[in-house]
Amino acid sequence: MSNTQDNLQEAFAGESQAGRRYLFFADKADKEGHPVIARLFRAAAEAETVHARNHLEAMDGIKSTRENLEVAISGEYYEFTQMYPGFITQAQAEANQPAETSFTWANQVEKVHHALYQQALKSLDGAEAPKDEPYFVCQRCGYTVAGEAPDRCPVCGAPLKMFKRVE
Ligand code: FE2
Ligand code: FE2
Ligand code: FE2
Repeated sequence: MSNTQDNLQEAFAGESQAGRRYLFFADKADKEGHPVIARLFRAAAEAETVHARNHLEAMDGIKSTRENLEVAISGEYYEFTQMYPGFITQAQAEANQPAETSFTWANQVEKVHHALYQQALKSLDGAEAPKDEPYFVCQRCGYTVAGEAPDRCPVCGAPLKMFKRVE
């Protein structure tokens, strides 16, 4: 029998996925020339995001920035040391090239996130803070870099124009 904490976890996962899925469906609807349907997907995505936040708050999942950084660091660490290496091996065994590529890109980028979060956590203890500058995120692989976008993504090789600026 499930308890409410488990149900909150499951509902948070499901609503989070629905929110992202609908945003991708909205982009597709726009590309197919259905802007009215795209808007519906975006509106529902907004609502699923509200549901996700409510569920996370109900399980006390948003704490102080220090604690949130610790959660983020251990999550990224788990992904690039445990989860993705196993997933990559399995994808290779099944000759699933798209999955192998997607897992490999994510795996490399999670290492970068782990380092960025660690630096941010240290800055709370008086170490040098990250500079006040924008981040750039590769829209093909997610590679995340502070300051300036590179001419070519070091993870996936995408050109400069594939980088999205994050303020
Ligand atoms: Fe929902
Ligand atoms: Fe990450
Ligand atoms: Fe990339």
